[in-house]
Amino acid sequence: MEKGKPQIFIKHSDIKRRIKELAGKINHDYKDKIPIFIGVLNGSFIFLSDLIREIKINCEIDFFKLSSYGDTKISSGEVKMLKELNCDVKGRDIIIVEDIIDSGLSMTFIRNLIIKQKPSSFRIASLLYKKNVSNLKFKIDYVGFEIDNKFVVGYGLDFAQKYRNLNGIYVL
Ligand code: IMP
Ligand code: MG
Repeated sequence: MEKGKPQIFIKHSDIKRRIKELAGKINHDYKDKIPIFIGVLNGSFIFLSDLIREIKINCEIDFFKLSSYGDTKISSGEVKMLKELNCDVKGRDIIIVEDIIDSGLSMTFIRNLIIKQKPSSFRIASLLYKKNVSNLKFKIDYVGFEIDNKFVVGYGLDFAQKYRNLNGIYVL
């Protein structure tokens, strides 16, 4: 386990500015629609809450919870559903909201799960995207920042459940 002090990687002011830009695109793309934002717990809770307050169209919010990491920095390679959705996604415009896409395993699992339920549309918003690490067969529609292969914490992201409360994004 690393003991060093987290080093700043993305400042809160840069995150805020980027979220405004993403929300602007979503407001435009979903004009006259009522999308459901589905946050993936726990990591997305801060991103989702900041994003949603920049959304000017009508929308709904739901959450589900997956687990794949346990308390390590390396993926166990296994995804488990810990809390299911409450909403009916059939015929709805779905936007999945994630904190970070690393291997892409979780997002592939989520995408398959949601698409099976026949939404009218399906898009993904992720604050961070380790594009060179993940091996996805689909695109991420709204990306906050593409980052290299480093382990980051803060702004909702944890290491062993800690550091979620940091205002910016830090490298351990
Ligand atoms: P994936 O399935 O490998 O794409 O990992 C997705 C999940 O792992 C994310 O939703 C995060 O919860 C967690 N994760 C991946 N990389 C990091 C990181 O750098 N910091 C904190 N959590 C991470
Ligand atoms: Mg997550």
